[in-house]
Formats: sequence, structure tokens, C-alpha cells
Amino acid sequence: MSAQSFFVTTPIYYVNDQPHIGHAYTTLAADVTARFHRLAGDDVFFLTGTDEHGQKVAQSAVAAGVTPQEFTDRVSGNFRALTASMNFSNDDFIRTTEPRNIAAAQALWRAMAQATAPDGQPALYLGSYSGWYAVRDEAFYDPAELKDGPDGQKFAPSGAQVAWVEEPSYFFRLSAYGEALLAFYESNPDFIAPTSRRNEVISFVKGGLRDLSISRTSFPWGVPVPGDEKHVMYVWLDALVNYIAALGYPETGAGTAYDRYWPADLHLVGKDIVRFHTVYWPAFLMAAGLAQPKRVFAHGWLTIEGQKMSKSLGNSIAPAQLVDTYGLDQARYLLMAEVPFGNDGDFSHETAVRRVNADLANGIGNLAQRTLTLIQKNCGAVIPDRQEFTEQDMNLLARAYDLHRSVAVDIDRQMFHEALRAIWAVIGEGDAYIDANAPWALKKTDPVRMATVLFVLAETLRCIGIVLQPFMPDTMSKLLDQLATPPDKRSFSSLNAADGLVSGAKLPAPQGLFPRIVETAGA
Ligand code: MSP
Repeated sequence: MSAQSFFVTTPIYYVNDQPHIGHAYTTLAADVTARFHRLAGDDVFFLTGTDEHGQKVAQSAVAAGVTPQEFTDRVSGNFRALTASMNFSNDDFIRTTEPRNIAAAQALWRAMAQATAPDGQPALYLGSYSGWYAVRDEAFYDPAELKDGPDGQKFAPSGAQVAWVEEPSYFFRLSAYGEALLAFYESNPDFIAPTSRRNEVISFVKGGLRDLSISRTSFPWGVPVPGDEKHVMYVWLDALVNYIAALGYPETGAGTAYDRYWPADLHLVGKDIVRFHTVYWPAFLMAAGLAQPKRVFAHGWLTIEGQKMSKSLGNSIAPAQLVDTYGLDQARYLLMAEVPFGNDGDFSHETAVRRVNADLANGIGNLAQRTLTLIQKNCGAVIPDRQEFTEQDMNLLARAYDLHRSVAVDIDRQMFHEALRAIWAVIGEGDAYIDANAPWALKKTDPVRMATVLFVLAETLRCIGIVLQPFMPDTMSKLLDQLATPPDKRSFSSLNAADGLVSGAKLPAPQGLFPRIVETAGA
């Protein structure tokens, strides 16, 4: 049987900004998901990239004194570098300025231009736009949504300043798609998550949709509209198309990547860009006659020490800085463990230190160190012989062999913190087991039982190590090396006794997994 395909995406990042941990957050969640599905045996495609057209990027290029192309070439590299610095396993990295994205955007445009909207009218038409636009959000706003600021300035609900725009524009007849969208949400209750976001979107659509301006004429940095090159496409159109451009759209026949991976299983996005992914994107796809993605999950925003990350406050944390301070896998763990995915949450140094010490150094680190050191000292540095299992032994092992199943449910709901909590519950059971059986005291009194207890602990650690790989790949690979687990026995299909540790296998000298963070006074 061929493997099941699984396609997960991140938003593509605007290159006007340096990457900060808010950006790394979305891609990390996608990385954990992709790695998890690979270990489950799925045929995974994990996509990320950069969003390089539009007024915002063009303005940043002017400010930097270079052409938009030079600017985007340089800054896109900063996002690409995240793959190495955060150990992301993306299968592709797409830039919207690449020929493949431009070709896909133009093909989608043509497909929409030939389409008839549900009201029987053409899906695209030429008109003239006059209204409010926020360059920072690259979004149009209704007058009713705006707040007044000083000196007649107006602001979008996001806080971005808006400006009045009047220019010829092509429109997408979004107003005709409301019912079709509502029917789609209704029959696909898992399409938008969490539920609070789903409710927001449904009430937004029920409130009535306006046609969407999808081209601009007042600046040139974008994808030319086919057949009318005075216009460039609205940046969100050529951004959203990246998800199918990377699969080779408009080639869609049997044997293509599109055929293999579309529809996407999961678009991960931040809460600020839900509307684009759950209203505009599905409507474009309906018009073009393409299948809908299966799920859009919107996560919350991270703050730093209680404050919004901003250029003016200068408090953004670069992903590399996080890795330097806490270590790579520690940083990955912290971002996933602390905040329930979907909620807003804060990153603070104090919490980070507490969690590294409590969960990593004293938690899994200590359990592994105690077990491996005892095996080293008391069992000749080989996987010990085991005798009959007690009920307690079997209970712990059953929990360990089963762990990936409950974790899979959490991962499929994007509840990463709950997945970690479930894994830590088994680590806690391992701690209780080692304390209850006190293998260090059995050396003289019952060495046979000591060997069985240490076998059970090592086998439990093997399972924990396998299930934790998506979150902390490097460190768990170190742990599995220390348990002499061969590389081809590290997927979920090896979570059973038959593929378990082999008594007598030689083990290397144990090494600590996670050093404690000791803060010197005044630091
Ligand atoms: N280019 C668009 C996305 C196009 S997708 C077809 C865009 N780019 S962005 O760079 O501004 O934001 C990308 C993602 O980063 C968004 O999902 C946004 O929510 C996320 N984050 C930016 N700052 C963030 C935090 N402080 N915290 C968490 N995520 C945040 O929007």
C-alpha cells in the first residue's frame, strides 16, 4: 500500500522584517507536525517561503536604497537561514518572485477570469477602486471598521494606518460567494480551527461580503495581470497561490505533485491572517474549480515579557538569539510547551529557565541519566537481561508503547502543548517507577530484579525518545544513540516489544542530555 500523503504549509513571510520568534513559531509548529507524520509513515510535503511583492516590500527596498529584487534576494536569505538555525525540515522553500510562482498566479488568474460566479455574472471584472488601504497589512478596510487618530489619520483594527486609494482595479466578485462559503464551512466543521476563529469567520461572512479589489496600478512591484499589464496583482493573490505553485500548478494531471499532495492537509497561520485563508482563498479556489484545503488552524500571538514585539520597542527576539541562550532543542521545546497553541501567550526568560530546569534537566534528562548510569555501573554497560515482568512493569511498558497514539490525536488537533503534557505524564510515571523499585538498592539484594527494572526503564526511554523526536530531533537522536537503537528502528512502527531493546547490546558511555541553567546572581 502506498503511504498516505500529508501536505502542511506555513504562511510565507514578508521580507520587510528580520525574522523573529513569532515567525519561527509558526514554522516550528509545521516542522513538528511534518516530522510527526513522517515517523508515522506518511508521504509528507512541508512548505514554507517568503512573500516578496507588494507595496510594503517595495517601500522597504526604497528605504534600504536598493531595487526590490536586490532587497528581496538579500532578505529572503534571512528566512531561508531559519531552516538551519532552528533545524526545520521543510521540503521546499518558495519565493513569490520565482518564475514558478508568477506562472501559477497568472494561470489562477486566467482560470478565475473564465469563471462564472454563483450569481451568474463573471467572477472577475474591471472597475475602479476607491477606499482605504493599509500598506502594513496589505489589506483593504471598510470605513466602518476604522478608528480616527490625530490629524485626520485613520487606523485599521490591527493598528495599521490606512490611506485613501483611488485607481482602476480588477475585482473578484466575492459578494456572490457568501452562501457557497457558508455551506462549505457547515459541511466541513474542521476546516477552521480553533472554534472561536471559526465563529468569527462565519459571522464575518454572514455580515455580507464586498467584492475584492485584486489588482493595483499605482506601483509596479507585483505579478503582471495577464492581458492587461498596467495592472499588477494584489499581493495576497500571488501570495496565496504559493501553496499550489510549489506543487507545480497549473500542471495538475496524474503523476504531478499537485495530484499527489493537493488539497493541503493543514495551512498553519497566525490569527491576523485568518480571513485571507478562510474567505478569500477558498473563494478563489471555488472560482478556479480547484479542491479546498482540509484545514486552516490559526495560532495566537507571542509577546515578550508581557509586551508586543515591535521595532520601536526593540524587543524582538531573533530565533538565533533564543538558540544561543537556551540551546536549540530547549528553544524548540519552550516555544511549543508554554503556550496552548491557538491562544496568545508570553515568552519570558524566567519561565524559560524554570521549564528548562524542571522539565528538561530534572525531567527527562534526569530519568535518562539515572537509568543509563546505573546500567553502565551495574550491568556491564550492556542492555540488561530481563526476567518475568511484574504487572507494574507491564503497565509502564504498555503506556510507553501506546503513547504515540494519544499524541497523534493532539498533533492532529494542533494541541502541541497537550502532546507534550501526555509525554511528560509518562516521564513522570517513569520517575515514580524508578523511585518505587529503587534499582540502586537491588544490586546486592536482588540483581536479577535490578536488571529487569533497568530494562523496563531503558525500554520506556526508547519509546519516549522516539515520540519526542519531532519536538527535539537532535537531543532525542543522542538519547536513542545512547540506547543503541539503530536508525531504522526509530519510527512509530518500532514502538512495540518485538522491535524493542536487545539484551546484551553494548551501550556507549552516558552523556547528559540537558544541562541545568544556573543563573549567577545579578545576571
Ligand atoms: N505574507 C503574509 C502571509 C502570506 S501567506 C499566503 C504575512 N506575513 S508576515 O510575515 O507578516 O506574518 C507571517 C506570520 O507570522 C503570520 O502568521 C503572523 O501571524 C506570524 N507572526 C508575526 N508576528 C507574530 C508574533 N508576535 N507571534 C506569533 N506569530 C506572529 O502575513
